[in-house]
Amino acid sequence: MSNYRTLDDIKVKGKRVLLRLDLNIPMNNGFIKDVTRIKRAAPTIVELSNNGAKIIIISHYGRPKKKPDPQLSLKTILEPLVKATGRQINFAHDCIGVAAENAVANLSEGEIVLLENLRFHNGEQTNDINFALNLAKLADIYVNDAFSVSHRAHASIKGVAHILPAFAGRLMEAELNALNCTLLGPVIVVIGGDKVSTKLNILINLVSQVEVLAIGGCMANTFLSANGVDIGKSLAEPELINMVYEIQAKAKAANCDILLAIDAIIADALVPDIKTKTVDILKIPSNKMILDIGPKTVDVITRRLERCKTLIWNGPLGAYEIKPFDKNTIALAKTVAEMTDRGQIISIAGGGNTMAALAEAKVIDRFSYVSTAGGAFLERLEGKELPGIIPLKAN
Ligand code: 3PG
Repeated sequence: MSNYRTLDDIKVKGKRVLLRLDLNIPMNNGFIKDVTRIKRAAPTIVELSNNGAKIIIISHYGRPKKKPDPQLSLKTILEPLVKATGRQINFAHDCIGVAAENAVANLSEGEIVLLENLRFHNGEQTNDINFALNLAKLADIYVNDAFSVSHRAHASIKGVAHILPAFAGRLMEAELNALNCTLLGPVIVVIGGDKVSTKLNILINLVSQVEVLAIGGCMANTFLSANGVDIGKSLAEPELINMVYEIQAKAKAANCDILLAIDAIIADALVPDIKTKTVDILKIPSNKMILDIGPKTVDVITRRLERCKTLIWNGPLGAYEIKPFDKNTIALAKTVAEMTDRGQIISIAGGGNTMAALAEAKVIDRFSYVSTAGGAFLERLEGKELPGIIPLKAN
């Protein structure tokens, strides 16, 4: 990876290293749903520690309203981080100021401290220069191992990287190498999950680069509704309907087929183990919600997969975090794993919830590549320069 500065280019012994990770792992009702992001971050931490660095881990977690929120404390992540690294890790109750400075001053070579959620400060997301300077003064070197948030021009991603000497961590290196490939066509993109408005922006560009776009999850409801389908009381975002029309027009002009559900699993509400029914998409009762794609839709997507060479998948296709609405995301994941085993398709998936769903289906290792990133993964595949990656480039 000669295009970027990496851990191979620095001596870290005795140096304070500000290590940006993405510890934003999927949670459900206060329980950790998947620790893949933590496991993938562990090798960089262990390597830095073995080489005598004083490691200061920073990360965001969730989307707090720019002030401390005990539900979103990174302290929750401490235990799985200790487990994944096999190291003792201290915790500081703030990411800047006296608490952080004292915690860093106490570090010996090889020791590690995790600082509190960056997004408890407004300056993180506004890339405030003073906030970036306060983070930077904790360290001598900055290492970005958070590819999955490197599409955000935030202080800990962009600001700090322009103040301190900046390097890519091992996970960042692996992600950049894996996604630096030319996609073999025809390409099918399967997209679902939440964060709808961010993803719609990406789809506008992506439709001109791929042959098929299959849409599930919450986002599909807005598409269905824009096309005159009565979606009952399903969640949708009517304010985004004009954007849907724009995507559909661009897709048509570029000969990209958009696949939407032809059947769905519906229920009264999004609660575990509730009574469900599978219905035709044109027969959603007004008092029901769409909570998963149906089996006929899985068949339609499978038939299109059979005619494609590469699959890019981001986002579960139903409300996968609540059973039984994970059923058809898992069914499709297993089909893709089998096709990948047979060498029929190159399967590239990405995103925190997608990884959790693939882990649940026990197929992570059978996909060609699974990225820890969602939004960043899609933007990179679009060919965009990400604000967190630019400062890591070798001169
Ligand atoms: C992710 O989970 O995609 C990253 O952690 C970025 O999170 P964000 O969309 O809240 O910026």
